[in-house]
Amino acid sequence: MRENEDEISFDDYDERINPHPEHNDFDVVVEAAISRRGFLSGVLTFGAGSFVMGTRDANATTSPFEFEQIAASIADTVRVPKGYSWDIAVQWGDKMWSDSPEFDPKTRGTAASQARSFGDNNDGMALFDIGGKAVLVANNEYTNRKIIWGNRTDSKPQTDDDLLKVKMAHGVSIVELAEQNGKWSPVVDSPFNRRITPDTDMEITGPAAGHALLKTAADPTGTKTKGTWNNCGNGETPWGTYLACEENFNGYFSSSDAEFEISPELKRYGIGHSDWGYRWAKIDTRFDVARNPNEPNRAGYVVEIDPADPSSTPKKHTALGRFKHENADVQIAVDGRIVVYMGDDERGEYLYKYVSRGVYTKGGDTSDLFSDGTLYAAKFRANQRGEWLPLSPETTGMTRAEICIHTRQAASAVGATTMDRPEWVASNPNRVESYVALTNNKNRGRKPNAGGDDTPINPANPRRKNRYGQIVRWVPDNQDHGEGAFDWDIFALAGNPDVHDDDKAGSANINAGNMFNSPDGLAFDSKGMLWIQTDGNYKNQGDFAGMGNNQMLVGDPATGEIRRFLTGPNECEITGITWSPDRKTAFVGIQHPGGNGNSTFPNGGNSVPRSAIVTVRRDDGMPIG
Ligand code: FEO
Ligand code: CA
Ligand code: CA
Ligand code: CA
Repeated sequence: MRENEDEISFDDYDERINPHPEHNDFDVVVEAAISRRGFLSGVLTFGAGSFVMGTRDANATTSPFEFEQIAASIADTVRVPKGYSWDIAVQWGDKMWSDSPEFDPKTRGTAASQARSFGDNNDGMALFDIGGKAVLVANNEYTNRKIIWGNRTDSKPQTDDDLLKVKMAHGVSIVELAEQNGKWSPVVDSPFNRRITPDTDMEITGPAAGHALLKTAADPTGTKTKGTWNNCGNGETPWGTYLACEENFNGYFSSSDAEFEISPELKRYGIGHSDWGYRWAKIDTRFDVARNPNEPNRAGYVVEIDPADPSSTPKKHTALGRFKHENADVQIAVDGRIVVYMGDDERGEYLYKYVSRGVYTKGGDTSDLFSDGTLYAAKFRANQRGEWLPLSPETTGMTRAEICIHTRQAASAVGATTMDRPEWVASNPNRVESYVALTNNKNRGRKPNAGGDDTPINPANPRRKNRYGQIVRWVPDNQDHGEGAFDWDIFALAGNPDVHDDDKAGSANINAGNMFNSPDGLAFDSKGMLWIQTDGNYKNQGDFAGMGNNQMLVGDPATGEIRRFLTGPNECEITGITWSPDRKTAFVGIQHPGGNGNSTFPNGGNSVPRSAIVTVRRDDGMPIG
């Protein structure tokens, strides 16, 4: 989700609708307690060799980096290291069937053309090898309204079709890709091609299915719903399905009745009388909370999609909780239970994990693994230990169904650690450890979260008004993701050592050559290197001078070394990464180029900027991760 709107950020929409009182009481204490030297030495003394850039495996003699770091860039293009090349695989509006109209840059399409074309603002994605076919599944998180309605006066919608066009640009695009001489492109009319939109039929599973809070006039059973939207990060299961995670689902609801009372439960999730400009309630009364107050309870979940079966009904899994889901990192515990790590991307919200009751066996029945299990929220302690606090009727005073619907309230009830906007979680395939990107949090140490929980600085979120973000890592006890406790440390504290010499300079593995802000996407490659994508301030001024456009870096878990690998075009974020089965192509998401109107990526000239998925390959044909 775009970090840098000139007008107002999406978190700010929430705060405008549901303002949190400013707290000043601990400001002075925090200022006194934190200095770069004080912070680093404080953390370094905790735990045995577990802080950043610890020395674990650091005496390896050969560098795991296979490229030379590139400079920061403010060019309106993608840049990759020497010896690598990039190309476009697919972009917003590309046709998926032979009867789809070609993208029309003048009108930017219609609802009908958009429903038959690749969606807007690609985010999380995964490439599946289905019987030798490369099937790409990509989330289409939201739309650049100024661009998609850029054919209209003031870039505002003029017709209901304009509103429906935007709705059809959301959801998930499934498209087969084919490679010829290193160039990847969509296979028009592939039987795997499918658009999943906010209107696609879905099944609701888990403890909340059928609960009164999920029943609506259109679905009196509370078990069937329509569609998915604002799908941010993703996940993949060992059984070959795709997980699309519903993030800022709230921004699409509005009330036709100014007197309609917004309940505290709706407020916690940012539902208000106004939407964020989409106006979907005008074309679909589901999005009018005055008429359908339970409809928002049917969004904010993880959705499972089977890309191998285009006729399958996607499932919304309530057991995995309801919040502003970023991604879903699926791991297998030692005993075979399925573990899913998930962030809730809002200031001062929580980090979660889900553990299935049943175990996974290859080729076995997986139907209950996402509908029967336990949710936990993370507690990070100052001694660099942490626990997963179970969200149960005993610990929360809520029923299982209520925990699945009002998951934020359950995590508040158990006193989990408020986090600096948890974005993606990724786990190392070569050792049992996981990483979460905490992108930034201007409210840290200043304001409570939307539920009124105070958000003082804490060891895992150590900076007041955190502008740069950090990456936190944990190692579960007994090398088992199923365990309830862990050691943790900070892998990287982003910052600007050119501008600051206090804690805002960042950790010692951040330097003038690799600095960045607002880590967001995370993924491990097959060699155990951590790919880091940013969605941050790209103004290249002040606190952010020298960082340039949003970028992708690679980190070495063993040494903490981080190198910049890719820079994006103007006003984009980099989000989503997956690889071809032979690992010779990396697919990287370029989202909202020209978010404020200053890009012509990827087609140049005077063209309309379009979100796109690019390929990156080594010129020598070797795998790149
Ligand atoms: Fe859609 Fe938290 O990024
Ligand atoms: Ca994003
Ligand atoms: Ca994100
Ligand atoms: Ca983000």
